[in-house]
Amino acid sequence: MKRFLSGITPSGDGSLHIGNYLGAVRQFISLSRDNEAFLMIADLHALTTIRDKKRLEHNVEELVRNELALLMGTLGGELPNITFFRQSDVPAHTELQSILNNVTPLGLVKRAHAYKDKLEKESAEEDINLGLFNYPVLMAADILLYQTDFVPVGKDQKQHIEITRDIAGRFNKTFCKKIFKLPEPYIPEEVSVIMGTDGKRKMSKSLGNIISIFEPEEVIRKQVMETYTDPARIHATDLGHIAGNMVFRYLEFFGTKQKVDELKEAYKKGQVADVEVKNYLYASLLKTFAPAREKYHALANNPEAVREILQEGARKANAVASRTMVEARRTIGLSNAYSCPSGSSYTPVPSERQNQGLTPVTPVTLAEFARMEIRVGKVIEASNKEGSEKLIRLVVDVGETKPRIIFTGVRGFGYTPEDFAGKQFLFITNLAPRKMMGEESQGMILAVDGNERPRGEHDAKKPVFITAEGMPLGAKVR
Ligand code: TYM
Repeated sequence: MKRFLSGITPSGDGSLHIGNYLGAVRQFISLSRDNEAFLMIADLHALTTIRDKKRLEHNVEELVRNELALLMGTLGGELPNITFFRQSDVPAHTELQSILNNVTPLGLVKRAHAYKDKLEKESAEEDINLGLFNYPVLMAADILLYQTDFVPVGKDQKQHIEITRDIAGRFNKTFCKKIFKLPEPYIPEEVSVIMGTDGKRKMSKSLGNIISIFEPEEVIRKQVMETYTDPARIHATDLGHIAGNMVFRYLEFFGTKQKVDELKEAYKKGQVADVEVKNYLYASLLKTFAPAREKYHALANNPEAVREILQEGARKANAVASRTMVEARRTIGLSNAYSCPSGSSYTPVPSERQNQGLTPVTPVTLAEFARMEIRVGKVIEASNKEGSEKLIRLVVDVGETKPRIIFTGVRGFGYTPEDFAGKQFLFITNLAPRKMMGEESQGMILAVDGNERPRGEHDAKKPVFITAEGMPLGAKVR
């Protein structure tokens, strides 16, 4: 499996248009089926233009909902092979940028389009902040941290991938070690630049020439109706032109081939009105994006689910980025005999801990740990599970309206239902339910390792259950 990374900046108002979809998100979706995807909300990049707390917060939230809705709406509600995260949740991006600055010639960055365009428009160098100037180095860090094979983007980002390759090559050469993989750009020709509804310039929010994806239907209808077609055609009976006609251009992606071919023929012969073709585009857009629009509202109503996705994404992204950083730090001399593993934000990866004689662990963050819900529960019924030699079935009151069914597989240690019935213990109550012998277990009883090691039970120690007698029923452990 190859790995790719891409990012979207929460600029404008944070929402996505069909140019972003066709030029980027559509590729993310199709490529994620057979590749490992790292998809990033590039919030640090937005700081080059946004210096308004409320606006940045809003934009990030909007972009997260937009992008997740498109991904999940199309991928059946799931994110297979996708690590979806926010750039600023992974501190390694800025650290690596700082390191890469030192192998990056000034001239290379001065040639970057974003800086050159700005210089032309604003004319004074004093008006350009260093963040914008240095943007390509941050983007190189984004990509190189993940040892990315390729980067799906629109054509406007091609130069940034070239700069990334240049910087990676210089770094590897300077330190005589292949620390960074050189990524390839992935830019399908037919979507490399999606032109705007004015038919003249690249579709871009700041130019007001977009078709939105998540705006109310009236807004999308208006955008479609204002789309540039054939200026020489005054009446529906005039012979029409397809080349340069943006409605037909968009229909190539959103219409069905047969219907679009029929409309093209009729249009050329003056047998169909512009408005009819536009109505078909409008209907096709709504049909294409219906699942995503539905998902958008579901996500907007469930911030907890969104937080969980980002938290899991940050965990995975940090784990991969940390590995690269451990190597990079070592290679350039930032790790030495006086390095203090606990002082570094990079937790040594398991093999490294083993080299140091420590037990390998997968570290969890405090926030992850805090997500675990542990409650006091009372066993109101206990029985041996039919058909199983191990399981005891507990009916547990954890202070909710309905008791839960929770299994524990401890009969092999000599435990019987009587050891549990009528007693209080601690239970994990936010585990994903798990099927056991045809019935769902809705939690887990907590125990510690005891000293006895009865034979026959895989050499495991007999568990001792954590009693919670006298504690308030349903109370959470804190
Ligand atoms: P951004 O946020 O400007 O655009 C996001 C993606 O959408 C593509 N795109 C288009 N493609 C075709 N036609 C259009 N009209 C159109 N408009 C936008 C862009 O090419 C891009 O792929 N710097 C990046 C974000 C970024 C990034 C990264 C990308 C930060 N770090 C690392 C890849 C890898 C940007 O501002 O894209």
